[in-house]
Amino acid sequence: MNAQPELIRWGVIGPGRAAGRFAQGLAGVPNTALHAVWGRNPARALDYAQRFNVPHLAADIPSLLAAPIQAVYVATHPDTHAAFCCAALDSGKHVLCEKPAALNVPQLESILEAAHRNGRLFMEAMKPPFFPLYQKLRARLAADPIGSIGFVRAGHCDSTLSPDYPLHFRELGGGSILGIGPYEAFLALDWLGDLKRVHAIGRLNEHGVDSFALFQTEHARGMAQLHTGIDLLSLGDALLCAPGGYVRIHANWWNPARATIHYRDGREVLLDEPFLHGGFNYETAHFCNLVRGGNRESPEITHALSLAMARLLQDARLQLGVQFPGE
Ligand SMILES: NC(=O)c1ccc[n+]([C@@H]2O[C@H](COP(=O)([O-])OP(=O)(O)OC[C@H]3O[C@@H](n4cnc5c(N)ncnc54)[C@H](OP(=O)(O)O)[C@@H]3O)[C@@H](O)[C@H]2O)c1
Repeated sequence: MNAQPELIRWGVIGPGRAAGRFAQGLAGVPNTALHAVWGRNPARALDYAQRFNVPHLAADIPSLLAAPIQAVYVATHPDTHAAFCCAALDSGKHVLCEKPAALNVPQLESILEAAHRNGRLFMEAMKPPFFPLYQKLRARLAADPIGSIGFVRAGHCDSTLSPDYPLHFRELGGGSILGIGPYEAFLALDWLGDLKRVHAIGRLNEHGVDSFALFQTEHARGMAQLHTGIDLLSLGDALLCAPGGYVRIHANWWNPARATIHYRDGREVLLDEPFLHGGFNYETAHFCNLVRGGNRESPEITHALSLAMARLLQDARLQLGVQFPGE
């Protein structure tokens, strides 16, 4: 008789937009429970607890971390990711942290040190590779190849964000590169390999963060042209080019559901893989299985990959002159 997989109980820090989608996704992951939540705004935390039936509304971080939970999901803004991740890891919890995992490379290194020190799993919540479409695309290109991807073009601009949206502000770790860029950095590193160099141009808003950035990156196996913005609108699709054809991952490519492979011989193959539960469920299921297996690092979103994404974004941001408080 098969034993039931271990129940993974979660605590949430930062019950905002992303945390709402995390709760929606968790409802689609068997043998998990959303057990505790802490938010600095008690009314919002209470609302979250009521909406998602969270039994323990923690008064503070120590109370959340003392709850019978194995894993913590950190969904505050990037300026506080390092502090909350380290506190959770030091209390013996496994941590899934929203992208970008930290403001900059030194802060990410401090998180990874805390994970190693405490022997706990840490993973950046980088969702695209766990979507059914992305996995199907990899399998299809392995079985019916187009050759080595040598160019990636991807980007997204969203000018519909409200004026008080956190991405507009430097003190919250805002800017389009840090807010949108983690996905673009992931795609380039995933298909093209190690980063060699970055060249960025862009413009800043009145709060001193990049409102538009265009960056070209050179990697071990090719080059990418990436863009991010919060003062324009753009399509949000992605293009992967190889000698034997190209792939278009349809918008919004970071929530991938459709892709078209165009082969050099004229064939066109449409992949159509709708996602369920909002899409956060796939990365969360992966994380829970790693916890159950005693793993300390995801083989998909490795610590080295998170560091490479952080380096790419930091290089692009610093070239535009965007520095965060304390840097
Ligand atoms: N994976 C995805 O698809 C996805 C989608 C959206 C966002 N994200 C990521 O998720 C993170 C949060 O973004 P969001 O859009 O969810 O933001 P949000 O809606 O503003 O929620 C942020 C939460 O963190 C809390 N918070 C902010 N600063 C804090 C501080 N200094 N101390 C304690 N709590 C603090 C906020 O509290 P208040 O309510 O009191 O402000 C709120 O509960 C970002 O890293 C973002 O890049 C990921």
